[in-house]
Amino acid sequence: MSKPEIEDGEQGLADPQFRADVLTGLERRPRAIPARWFYDRRGSELFEDITALPEYYPTRTETAILETICPEVAGIAGRGRAVVEFGSGSSTKTPVLLRCTEPSAYVPIDISGAFLRESSRVLSQAFPNLLVLPFEADFMRALVLPQAVADAPKLGFFPGSTIGNMIPLMAVDLLRAMRASLGEGAMLLIGMDRVKDPATLVAAYDDTAGVTAAFNLNLLERINRELDGTIPVDAFAHEARWNDDRARIEMHLVARRDVDFSVDGRPFAMAAGESIHTENSHKYGSRDARILLRSGGWTPLKEWTDPDGLFSVYLAEAQAERPAP
Ligand code: TRP
Repeated sequence: MSKPEIEDGEQGLADPQFRADVLTGLERRPRAIPARWFYDRRGSELFEDITALPEYYPTRTETAILETICPEVAGIAGRGRAVVEFGSGSSTKTPVLLRCTEPSAYVPIDISGAFLRESSRVLSQAFPNLLVLPFEADFMRALVLPQAVADAPKLGFFPGSTIGNMIPLMAVDLLRAMRASLGEGAMLLIGMDRVKDPATLVAAYDDTAGVTAAFNLNLLERINRELDGTIPVDAFAHEARWNDDRARIEMHLVARRDVDFSVDGRPFAMAAGESIHTENSHKYGSRDARILLRSGGWTPLKEWTDPDGLFSVYLAEAQAERPAP
């Protein structure tokens, strides 16, 4: 997921879920480790650096779109909704939205309490009159929002094309959970990165400065640090692949040579060219995005894109729908 969580893994204090995910993931074929484990302190810093890279267009493109469209969004959604942000992380896009929608409250939801408290503090300083209600929760499940916003109309906010980091099955589950959390009549402002030429896409996930490579490889360093691993990190190469069938960028860690190592005392052997799959970033054209939204119970109202058509922001509504014609 794109919104980093700060996790202070020190030696001996490893998260048991991290250990389980890594060991199971390395035993599976193809090998794969869930992307959420990227975001230790170093990983979160590297992720922030990625968002500023010249090749990484999504962050600056989406921010520019939001700045342009915000008054229009406020016009359609109406002022005074409670803005609910899913996976608020350390988002810099939130103030752009809050400035013109004049919300009655702001509810940032994140699984990382550390990030949540920090971003809420910064937000409260910038918007001293805003009711900020940080909510530490896993937003993949339907949530009961704080009582203070129970009766307010809601505007969900899910920027960063984070929906693209889920396979469609999970993306639809999430959209439906959001609908259940926000209720009928709610609106959702959601960013999705668009399908475009593979060279541009691959470059965005394999920059010349090597920041995304360092981000991906940091997962191996983290395994070595926290799970008593012996992985020779220099035996692995970062690779960003365009999977055209699934319309997604995949990040892999590919063994440059035959390599043996152990994690938590368990031995592993990888042949040269074998990979560990670490991240997906699905890309959605307009029709793709609209069918995805509808599948999750959201009626698309409007799409905005940048002049080059790189990235799209959608406003959708949780309308009462009849299941048959
Ligand atoms: N959701 C964004 C994207 O897919 C941000 C992101 C999540 C990301 N994981 C990443 C960017 C890994 C680079 C590498 O682009």
